[in-house]
Amino acid sequence: MITSIQSLLRNNERFVEEQLQLDPGYFANLSEGQHPAFLWIGCSDSRVPPDRITGTQPGDMFVHRNIANLVVQTDMNLLSVLQYAVEVLEVEHVIVCGHYGCGGVKAAMGEAKHGLIDNWLRVLKDTQQYFWKELMTLNEHARFDRMVELNVIEQVYNLGKTSIVQEAWKRGVRPWIHGWVFDLSTGFIHPQTGMINNDAAIQEVCKFHTGVVGA
Ligand code: CO
Repeated sequence: MITSIQSLLRNNERFVEEQLQLDPGYFANLSEGQHPAFLWIGCSDSRVPPDRITGTQPGDMFVHRNIANLVVQTDMNLLSVLQYAVEVLEVEHVIVCGHYGCGGVKAAMGEAKHGLIDNWLRVLKDTQQYFWKELMTLNEHARFDRMVELNVIEQVYNLGKTSIVQEAWKRGVRPWIHGWVFDLSTGFIHPQTGMINNDAAIQEVCKFHTGVVGA
């Protein structure tokens, strides 16, 4: 594990050296602009680096991360990232990726107080309450995993219902939206939703959301 700040700068120098060896024009090309095909909405957790786990390179992926990968309709930061990605960069895919063992989800499932962060995580308590009938049948470990999955599906639903995505779909423009869960213990990503690119498809998620499947 790297803990010294100097190591980061040394590693950066090595990175530059290695890239230039592979391709002397690498940074010149990179500085010309970006045309990423993907927007990633993921958790801030240090163990879930989107580029590493998907094999993407600089320029491939526009990224927004927050604790517990939430899509909150009043979050100006997320909405700005989404609007820019969908309307200006015209990304083809938006991925919401959660992960098993998420500290944010775990905190929301417990009773302990953590300060300001509890406000951010409050929506997860609603999800837990909403799907309690299903969740209560599971043991503690399975319930935690299931909450991570349900949270991703919930956030996909929220994403599909933003005015930005709704307007894009109305214009017949992508994005496809996807809900994934990353498994820290194996390294594999598990898709939780099919590919969604219209309101009918989001209704399938909505059916789930309104408890037809989840209840
Ligand atoms: Co997390």
